[in-house]
Order: sequence, then C-alpha cells, then structure tokens
Amino acid sequence: MGELSGRVAVITGAGRGLGREYALLFANEGAMVVVNDLGGNPDGSGSSDDPAEGVVAEIRALGGEAIATHDDIADWDGARHLISTAVEAYGDLHVLVNNAGILRDRSLVNMSEDEWDSVMRVHLRGHFCPTRFAAEHWRMRAKAGDLTDRALINTSSPSGLLGNRGQANYGAAKAGIAAFTIIAEIELSAYGVRCNSIAPAARTRLTTSADDASAVHPLRDRIIDDGHPANVAAVVAYLATATCPLRGMVMITRGRRVQVMQPWTPIETIDNDDVWTFDDLRRQLDPLAGLRFTTLADIFPT
Ligand SMILES: NC(=O)c1ccc[n+]([C@@H]2O[C@H](COP(=O)([O-])OP(=O)(O)OC[C@H]3O[C@@H](n4cnc5c(N)ncnc54)[C@H](O)[C@@H]3O)[C@@H](O)[C@H]2O)c1
Repeated sequence: MGELSGRVAVITGAGRGLGREYALLFANEGAMVVVNDLGGNPDGSGSSDDPAEGVVAEIRALGGEAIATHDDIADWDGARHLISTAVEAYGDLHVLVNNAGILRDRSLVNMSEDEWDSVMRVHLRGHFCPTRFAAEHWRMRAKAGDLTDRALINTSSPSGLLGNRGQANYGAAKAGIAAFTIIAEIELSAYGVRCNSIAPAARTRLTTSADDASAVHPLRDRIIDDGHPANVAAVVAYLATATCPLRGMVMITRGRRVQVMQPWTPIETIDNDDVWTFDDLRRQLDPLAGLRFTTLADIFPT
C-alpha cells in the first residue's frame, strides 16, 4: 500500500519540472493522477501535448495509473474540464496541486502590460479557476455526508513572500497565492479540505537554462542533491496524504529544508491618545525606519 493509495490527484503543469516529479511520486505512492499540462514555453507562449503525454507514459511504464489533460488552467472552461475529467475518470477528487506557472521577468520600469497580465493570469487565475471547480465538487460531497480528507496544495514562491528584483509581476501573483491559500483554508475547511501552499526552490527550466537532466534521483537513490525538484515532491506528497494534519500553512521548501512562514504579523503596534497629527506620527513612526525584515538573501545566502 502506497502512502497515496486510493487518492485521486490533479496536478497542474505536471509535464515538466516540479510538477512532473510530483506526478511520478504520487503515482508511485498509489495515487490516480491527472497529469495536466498545456505544454508551453517558459514565457507561456506555444503549446504541446507531448510533456503531459510523456509523463503519463512514464507512469504507466512503471505500473502506475494516470491520464493526461492539456487544458489551460487559467481558462474557466479549461479548468472545469480538468476537474470533471478527474471525477469522471476516477469517481472523485482528493488532491488538487496548483503548480503550473510561467515567468516574464522584467524590471518594473520596463515591464509591459502583457508581461504583467500574462503572469497574473497563469498564476492567479490559474490557481483560482481549478480550485473553484474542485471546491464545488468538494462542497457537493460534503453535503452528501462525505468528509473524506481533501488537500489543496498551492504554489507560491520565495519571490512572492520576500521579494525579488525583476519579478514585480510574478512576486505579486505569488504573494496573492499565499493570501488565496489562507482564505481558501478559511472557506473550504468546512468541506474537509486542508489548504496549504509551498514556496519551492529547485532546478527546473524556470531557474536554469534547461530541464533538470541529472541521472541520479535523491529519493530513489538516497543521494543528497538539494537542487533536485524531487526533494520538493516529497513534501508535496506528504501534504497530500490523508493523515496529514497541516492546514493553512505557507512553507518554503528546498532540498532537505522546510521553512514554515508566518503570515503578515504585527511586530510593532502604535496607539495614539488623540487623533493623529503629523507630529504624533513623526514622533512614533520615525523611529521605526531602522526596522529590518527578512530578505531572500537571508533565506538563500549565496
Ligand atoms: N523552480 C523553482 O525554483 C521555483 C521557485 C518558486 C516557484 N516555482 C513555481 O513552481 C511551479 C512549477 O515551476 P517549474 O519550475 O517546475 O517550471 P516548469 O516550466 O518546469 O513547469 C511548469 C509547467 O507548467 C505548464 N504550464 C504553464 N502555463 C500553463 C497553463 N496555463 N496551463 C497548464 N499548464 C501550464 C508548463 O507547460 C510547464 O510544463 C510554478 O508555479 C513556479 O512559479 C518554482
């Protein structure tokens, strides 16, 4: 019995990179996997059925269960089709991993309207649309008395939680996904859904010039390679297990390290006896100018 035996999982963007590793591990642990991928380029242009079909072929060759879809997850009807495909093929849906993503990095001052809109669309709409239809299914099952554990696993980014140069579009979308996760948890827990988000870091074509091509595999070969996306897959698969108690968390995950992040939290509270004057504000807030916050360099020192 695998850790995910009997679980039906939809993984978006599972044709390559991180999502491919999730799909392979989920299937290896006994899940029935819907491998979604539009098969586009890193900037979101183009499409191809090959990446998703290739992962399904890999899974089947290893004796696992999977089907492919090529829906654009940011498209309303595409997302509806993705979720209904899972339910029609396997009878239910236990896990939705929102993972698909693109990059259109540019300095803020040079960023085009399309660079902003396309990144917002794939990441924010691309999380909302599949979650919306999965939530409808989960509500229907809960109302019928079925409170089986369900897991929503979203994909934020260290860039969205801490900020990164050249990624105003991507970081804003990824910060939005962290907030979306917390609100999804508030709303969907009543239906038995646990909502968490990872903020991964791994070698993929989004962070290096090519797909990871290393022959060794950290999980299979028990070899330490902290840049390999399979390390993140282990954490995502854990979050997907029916016995996982975690909910409402956003966690940076890279290699063998997981860092649970605290949501926006007050660290200084200033109260005034009367309505604010500029003098009051200067006296009380100017001293805070030296406050220092965690940066990406603190998390990933070079
Ligand atoms: N690799 C990292 O270090 C890192 C860091 C932080 C966040 N992330 C996030 O992890 C996720 C996976 O990224 P990756 O590094 O594996 O990249 P990747 O490019 O290897 O894989 C992303 C996949 O998503 C698919 N996709 C893109 N738009 C889609 C759409 N509209 N519909 C369906 N599929 C679509 C692509 O075809 C691709 O196969 C992304 O959300 C990314 O932002 C990655």
